[in-house]
Amino acid sequence: MTEIKTQNKDAHVKAFVVDLASFQSILEFKSSLQQWLLDCKLHCSLQLLINNAGILATSSRTTPEGYDQMMGTNYIGPFCLTKLLLPLLKRSPVPSRIVNVTSFTHRSVFDVQVDKESVYGTRFLRSEQYPFARLYEYSKLFLILFSYELHRQLGLMDQPYHVSVNAADPGSVKTNIMREVPSCLSSLAFQVLKSLGLLQSPKNGVSSLIDAALAPPEASGVYFFGGKGRTVDSSVLSHNTKLAKELWDISDNLFMEASLPFKETASSESDNWL
Ligand SMILES: NC(=O)c1ccc[n+]([C@@H]2O[C@H](COP(=O)([O-])OP(=O)(O)OC[C@H]3O[C@@H](n4cnc5c(N)ncnc54)[C@H](OP(=O)(O)O)[C@@H]3O)[C@@H](O)[C@H]2O)c1
Repeated sequence: MTEIKTQNKDAHVKAFVVDLASFQSILEFKSSLQQWLLDCKLHCSLQLLINNAGILATSSRTTPEGYDQMMGTNYIGPFCLTKLLLPLLKRSPVPSRIVNVTSFTHRSVFDVQVDKESVYGTRFLRSEQYPFARLYEYSKLFLILFSYELHRQLGLMDQPYHVSVNAADPGSVKTNIMREVPSCLSSLAFQVLKSLGLLQSPKNGVSSLIDAALAPPEASGVYFFGGKGRTVDSSVLSHNTKLAKELWDISDNLFMEASLPFKETASSESDNWL
């Protein structure tokens, strides 16, 4: 924020706190953002939403709504936030964009059952050990399925895309993503990745996210990876339209359920997506 202010003293800059694992926090974030835009006399719209937050949780925890916390943070939270902010993105006077930050690990999923329990993440909690790698991979696959489905749904209404949606995969980056993994294991993993020439600094790792954000408006429903504007194909499963529609319907119901206690705050404008 300070750097932006140094470069442009007239810029309106503000940071907000949002916990993506809490529906209430997401709602409060939306209200605070709208109030701030109003107070600053800025156009009440959004041009760019990057769903970057994500965790690799190694122990089983649940969100206030009863979802697995990793699924809540990595998939359900971004889904709900996107749904709530879509009216602002659509209101933008210039083409706007959503970028969902996903991971190459989604490629490890070859078969998935999409039902309420798997979207909540509770299906995977029956085993004695928390299957953290599996849940992370599922959450990232769900985010891609959601990105492509939203792209298709918006495309039906909106030609050419006024709101476009892309997935971005940063590759292996030396960040705090393994903060819950014992340090001896995370250091070893980073060493192996480094020796294979696969480990990037955050400065380089962010390129695919910037590419996905700044690509021309007609770039939608694509998967950015590797920097220099490169796009690649995500897994075959991530292109399964039937699965994506099932996931969409379940996630939408889940949103309705979560918003019931806050019905007055989750205003009617978010009742319909498109
Ligand atoms: N690093 C990699 O190799 C790699 C590879 C593929 C994909 N990714 C993806 O890249 C994204 C960024 O991760 P990173 O590597 O930069 O890891 P990171 O250093 O751990 O950053 C994760 C970010 O997510 C935020 N966050 C965590 N839980 C949140 C919640 N409930 N609500 C709001 N924000 C929350 C964290 O905020 P706090 O610090 O305040 O907790 C932090 O800013 C993630 O989606 C990750 O899955 C990373």
